[in-house]
Amino acid sequence: MQYLYAALPETLGLYPAVVVDAKICLLGDALPDGYIVKKGDMVAYQPYVMGKMKFIWGEDAREFWPERWFNEDGVFQQESPSQFTAFQGGPRICLGKELTYRQMRIFAALAVTLAILIFKIFAAKEKRYRPVVTELAAKYGTYRLLSPFRSEVYTADPANVEYILKTNFPNYGKGWHNYSILSDLLGDGIFTVDCKKWRHQRKVSTYEFSAKVLRDVSSIVFKRNAVKLARILSETSTTNEAFDILDLFMKSTLDSIFKVGFGVELDSMPGSTEGTKFPNAFDDSSALTLWRYVDILWPIKKFLNIGSEAALRKNIKVIDSFMYKLISQRIEQNKNSPGDASGEGLVTHLIQSIVVLNIVFAIYHIFMEGPFLLNIGKCCILNRL
Ligand code: HEM
Repeated sequence: MQYLYAALPETLGLYPAVVVDAKICLLGDALPDGYIVKKGDMVAYQPYVMGKMKFIWGEDAREFWPERWFNEDGVFQQESPSQFTAFQGGPRICLGKELTYRQMRIFAALAVTLAILIFKIFAAKEKRYRPVVTELAAKYGTYRLLSPFRSEVYTADPANVEYILKTNFPNYGKGWHNYSILSDLLGDGIFTVDCKKWRHQRKVSTYEFSAKVLRDVSSIVFKRNAVKLARILSETSTTNEAFDILDLFMKSTLDSIFKVGFGVELDSMPGSTEGTKFPNAFDDSSALTLWRYVDILWPIKKFLNIGSEAALRKNIKVIDSFMYKLISQRIEQNKNSPGDASGEGLVTHLIQSIVVLNIVFAIYHIFMEGPFLLNIGKCCILNRL
């Protein structure tokens, strides 16, 4: 068990779902390593790169070695969020972290076998493919990339990360840049906003995420879906046909999250058209939204409704109509059974404040052609109410 506890962060450290995460510097500042950042600079910490730095993890940083997480007594030791940044850290630390670990542990039997397989495939691939940013971070720790439009500071220094995410947290927010890119898909949800709007949603969501009923219901749902996934994998393995394991994982997680969050059977795994329409639209929208970070022409394309922006608009329509239908259904059910104290009643609570949890494997598609393990992608809350 201790080994499993250690293997999960070890894998996520080497192959995090969110490979780089950017903030905007609101007022000019100096980072702990002396690096000067200017007002409006994009300042990013890099979980993917940090997981491979010898100055953080030692000479064997790039080896898969879960034992590094044990203390002298061989007991798993919690990670420091300024070194292990897969879930961010500070006041905006991922709210789904515990839920994620719970699901990963429940899926462990499947996951450990697949982890070894995926790890071997990608470790071999990495020998050929080593992102230049990893080498830059190994050499400089913190560095600046200049473009005609924006000055970007990247850091892999844990002291800087702690400073950005915690010590001087109010100075490093989502800012207008991130908001303008993300808000078409994510609205004014917890992921896109700062200050008062963020504080309010964080407070409400923290309460919901810490509810015991969430823990109990999610464990049951994760177990049920792990069995379902195992059955599908077992059946598929006898057909000798190729299949997309990441897609299966994404859909299995989405099914679980919908059940936990809304009491709704999305049933996207076996491949019903209705069930897959939403996950596919969400996956594509996430990829297209993240594409905006590299496509400086996106506002013009949006205005003209062409290319990637036309596709994004179409996908968001699918998501919106699905979500509004779901919201109406839940409101109706809520009216009919207001005092529901079962696990499904949790939905009634959740729907008042937050709407849907998403799985954004797309983040990984956009930033790097690399591996990602296990069953949960980066997840965020869409507040589209
Ligand atoms: C492997 C799985 C996951 C990883 C690696 C991950 C990672 C992250 C990261 C890096 C952030 C910060 C993003 C930002 O700056 O905007 C974040 C935020 C967040 N995550 Fe996750 N996450 C995971 C799963 C989940 C799940 C399953 C949920 C919910 C069910 C969730 C809920 C959230 C929320 C609500 C935030 C926003 C926190 C805030 O801004 O205050 N995450 N996550």
